[in-house]
Amino acid sequence: MRSRGVALLLLLAASAARAQLPLGGGVPAVPPAPPDPAALFRGQCGTCHTTVANASPRQGPNLAGVYRRKAGTLAGFKYSGAFGNADFVWDDDHLNALLTNPQVLLPGAVMVYRQANPTIRQAIIGWLKEQH
Ligand code: HEC
Repeated sequence: MRSRGVALLLLLAASAARAQLPLGGGVPAVPPAPPDPAALFRGQCGTCHTTVANASPRQGPNLAGVYRRKAGTLAGFKYSGAFGNADFVWDDDHLNALLTNPQVLLPGAVMVYRQANPTIRQAIIGWLKEQH
């Protein structure tokens, strides 16, 4: 009998936790702790990208000053053909689309990355804007 009571309590706790989520989304309105964008960039992008001005590109182009730069135009970086028709500058919307799924924004792009969590995408984009 006692274990049934515990199970009921757990069930109540679980539905209480669910009730705090905003309608229609799986992301809590208030994240437990704000993500540290520099650490996010290092962890999620740093293997392939640097933001140290004038440093040589890695697998991907140097992202110093990428915000408002025209896509596919870093001198000396050999982009894939996917960038051939990329006629836009990197702003919030384009960066958000790229980080969500590069293949949708630029079919054939060789950037192997996807981020489903909008909070993480926004943190990285906000931080990228500051990197000149
Ligand atoms: C596994 C390696 C890899 C990871 C991880 C990665 N990228 Fe990339 N990224 C690339 C490559 C390679 C390209 C060039 C793609 C091409 O030529 O098709 C690129 C291109 C880009 C571009 C276009 C830049 C320009 O000059 O037009 C941006 C912006 C970008 N990445 C941002 C990011 C961000 C921000 C992250 C982390 C959230 C990230 N990337 C993670 C490899 C990566």
